[in-house]
Amino acid sequence: MNEQEIFKEIGPEGIAAMCSAFYKRVPDDDILGPMYPKDDLTGAEERLRDFLLFRLGADTTYIEKRGHPRLRMRHAPFQINFRARDRWVKIMDESMAEAGIRPEIAATLRIFFAQVADFLRNVPETDGPFKI
Ligand code: HEM
Repeated sequence: MNEQEIFKEIGPEGIAAMCSAFYKRVPDDDILGPMYPKDDLTGAEERLRDFLLFRLGADTTYIEKRGHPRLRMRHAPFQINFRARDRWVKIMDESMAEAGIRPEIAATLRIFFAQVADFLRNVPETDGPFKI
C-alpha cells in the first residue's frame, strides 16, 4: 500500500483525527508531556497535521508555512532517547486506532513513524540495546 492509496482512503479527515487523538494524549504523558509547548498544543497539532498532509497528500501548506521540514534540526532542542522514541510511536499507535484507521494502513504508517522517530534520536544511550 503506497502513500497515494493510503491518502485516498483516510483523507485529510483521517490525518486530522489521528493528530487530534495524538495531542489529546501528549499533555498527560510523563515522557512527552514536558517537551511540548503547553500554551501552543493547538499550534503543534496543526504543524504535525500539515506535515502529514504534505508527506502523504502532497499538500504544500506545511512548506508554505514552515519551509523545509528539517526534522532532525527542529527536534534538536528535545532529548530524544529510546524511551521517548518508543513512547511517541506507542501513542501514535493508540491515536491511529482511536481515529479508526484500518489496521493494515496503521501498520504501514507505523513503519514510517518508527523510522522517522528512530532517525530523530539525538542522545547517546548507555542502557539501550544498541550502544552508540
Ligand atoms: C521520536 C520522538 C519524538 C519526539 C520526542 C518529538 C517531539 C516533538 C516536539 C516537542 C515538537 C515541538 C512541538 C511544536 O511546537 O511543534 C515536535 C515537533 C514536530 N514533530 Fe516531533 N517528536 C518525535 C517524533 C516525531 C515524528 C516521528 C515525526 C514525524 C513523522 C515528528 C514530526 C514533527 C513535526 C512535523 C513537528 C513540527 C516541526 C515544525 O514545523 O516546527 N516528530 N516534535
